[in-house]
Amino acid sequence: MKVRKAALAYSGGLDTSVIIPWLREEHGCQVVAVVANVGQTDDFAAVERKALASGAIECRVVDVRRTFVSDYVFPALRAGAIYEGRYLLGTALARPLIARVQVEVAKETGCDALAHGCTGKGNDQVRFELAYRALAPELPIIAPWREWTLKSREDEIAYAARHGIPVPVTSAKPYSIDQNLWHTSYEGGILEDPAVAPPEDMFQTTSDPAEAPDEPELLEIEFEHGFPIGVNGHRLPPEELVAGLNVLAGAHGVGRMDLVENRLVGMKSRGVYETPAGTVLRTALADLESLTLDRETHHFRETISPRYADLVYNGLWHSPLRESFDAFLEISHRWVSGRVRLRLFKGSCLAVSRTSPYSLYRHDLATFGEDGVYDQKDAAGFNNLWALPTRVVAAVRRETASPAPTPEPVASE
Ligand code: ARG
Repeated sequence: MKVRKAALAYSGGLDTSVIIPWLREEHGCQVVAVVANVGQTDDFAAVERKALASGAIECRVVDVRRTFVSDYVFPALRAGAIYEGRYLLGTALARPLIARVQVEVAKETGCDALAHGCTGKGNDQVRFELAYRALAPELPIIAPWREWTLKSREDEIAYAARHGIPVPVTSAKPYSIDQNLWHTSYEGGILEDPAVAPPEDMFQTTSDPAEAPDEPELLEIEFEHGFPIGVNGHRLPPEELVAGLNVLAGAHGVGRMDLVENRLVGMKSRGVYETPAGTVLRTALADLESLTLDRETHHFRETISPRYADLVYNGLWHSPLRESFDAFLEISHRWVSGRVRLRLFKGSCLAVSRTSPYSLYRHDLATFGEDGVYDQKDAAGFNNLWALPTRVVAAVRRETASPAPTPEPVASE
């Protein structure tokens, strides 16, 4: 099918800039550049100028910072979604929203194809394309990285120069950066060797914890139904709350993470992340959940957190299972409201106190002192019955010989 006009997810970087003349040349189509503002610190006017200078017929910049935080980041936070126990999913959460903006602009401007600048080796291509399939299954997808012959940054610069598009004057950073309100991520280049520590001057939003203030800072976060709503007694819109916390916690060196993760497409990759606000909010919410969720609900929520994280990481934001998890969390977190105070100090973030009108903590039950509600004599019968299976196992082990060890598996010829 011949494409007339393609909507391109545009960042202003070299890759997506080169894609513009490439699409015009190879597919003979017009290009609408679509920029989603998810909180990256870019000069959007300059990005727009660059898109047009590179040959786009139109460039749309759409500010979706609030939607990003309230509809993607906060639900994932409430779900306790942390990929492989450490990654707070900043990039993975932004992709389906960027794709949504792109599809909306594509429809408004009469585009008949969607294009992105992701390589064929990463997670992001999957996230974009699954969102496209959920939102605009009829539109064909163009992924230049999987088609073109450009092999290196030098190839791209030469291609750009030949097509009269602005070539970056500054030399590229020796790693790739992806940024939004929730995190800044670094991967590739010099970070590809997991044995090598990142250079200190790489970090953009957190201070070196060793250089952070010598005085700790106390901070209070307020939550309603599992969503953050205020800091230090001030109610704030979601995007301002996160932006403000990034500055506050970043100054104390809170929120760095350096890890090796499993990509969906199979290989391991090394990533370094800065998620200052995310780290504070996760710590605070986990603390409030301990206070307000009953044991069974809390433990069940803990079983869905890694599943939720996998869905987000693997591009399945648009899936019945994610919707179902959110429906569960809507109810489980109805009473997760209250305040948590935290102490930030040289890279650490610890909850120090918590209060909630729905606290399930009962001092009379927990105390070692005298009480009138808990009869300690009951504990003898409880322990006896709870120990029943343990007693049976102990008796059987005492009375029977231990079974022979399992034989070693024999390697086949
Ligand atoms: N490894 C992270 C993820 O898959 C971050 C990816 C960053 N993307 C990028 N294009 N630099 O979510």
